[in-house]
Amino acid sequence: MNIDLAGQTALVTGSSTGLGRACALGLAAEGMNVVINYHSSKDEADDTAHEITQRGGKAIVVQADVSQEDDVSRMFAECNEAFGHLDVVVANAGLQADAAFTEMTLAEWNRVINVDLTGQFLCCREAARVFRKQGIHAHSTSAGKIICMSSVHDEIPWAGHVNYAAAKGGVKMLMESMAQELAADKIRVNAISPGAIRTDINKAAWSTEQAMDKLLQLIPYGRIGESEDIANLCIFLASDLSDYITGESIHIDGGMMLYPGFRFGG
Ligand code: NAI
Ligand code: BGC
Repeated sequence: MNIDLAGQTALVTGSSTGLGRACALGLAAEGMNVVINYHSSKDEADDTAHEITQRGGKAIVVQADVSQEDDVSRMFAECNEAFGHLDVVVANAGLQADAAFTEMTLAEWNRVINVDLTGQFLCCREAARVFRKQGIHAHSTSAGKIICMSSVHDEIPWAGHVNYAAAKGGVKMLMESMAQELAADKIRVNAISPGAIRTDINKAAWSTEQAMDKLLQLIPYGRIGESEDIANLCIFLASDLSDYITGESIHIDGGMMLYPGFRFGG
């Protein structure tokens, strides 16, 4: 197996923490230059970049709110200035603002839709513009690779999280429609759809023994996911090893999508 991403450039949104950070470190370990984007946690973004440069890699840190069009344009311009070429965009930044449906405020709805769905639209649109302009380059069989961070909740309904499930369901159709439209330009577009992965976003679901026991009822494979599980898939989707894959949501969830309740009934 030859991954061969050396010398290519990746931009990973929300990569100061969690899955974004793991993807950034994983892609850098394969020799990619990486743009570390953060919203408010500069120190953690600097730490991620430092870890990359310490191992001989190249990284820059760019503050940008992915839900703001001007911020997104500036972030891509800074990437171009630093590296001159772009090969992979991981639209990862996301958040939850949970509430029971009848209690959910418009502000909570808008906050999640703006970051988790509109943020992906803005970053992917900018990526597609850059990739189309660059065309195919000697180091990859495609003109660019877009990887959307979705969720099992692009299919599994989620009570108490309608804003989040609606955003991720939207990401699925955004991703598939982009893939259909951009395939002729040799731009590949795919989604990673994780189940429960140990990060800050779901700390309440794994940080006590009781919560973890409850969570594991939903995971046939019997363990929570780790960020590196996601980074490994991200590397595969970024590389030419996945050259014939476009428009796919790859669920990576220890079996969470397999109707786990049916192990005990039905
Ligand atoms: P996290 O909370 O560690 O990471 C989210 C990152 O997005 C943070 O660094 C945050 O600062 C950044 N962010 C939030 N709003 C932003 C904005 N407006 N502009 C730029 N960056 C912003 O949590 P995690 O788990 O790493 O989440 C990453 C992605 O993975 C999210 O899209 C999330 O929905 C998705 N995901 C996570 C799962 C999990 O179990 N951890 C499962 C399925 C999907
Ligand atoms: C959510 C996590 C949750 C996971 C599985 C993700 O999209 O962000 O909070 O643990 O889905 O339900």
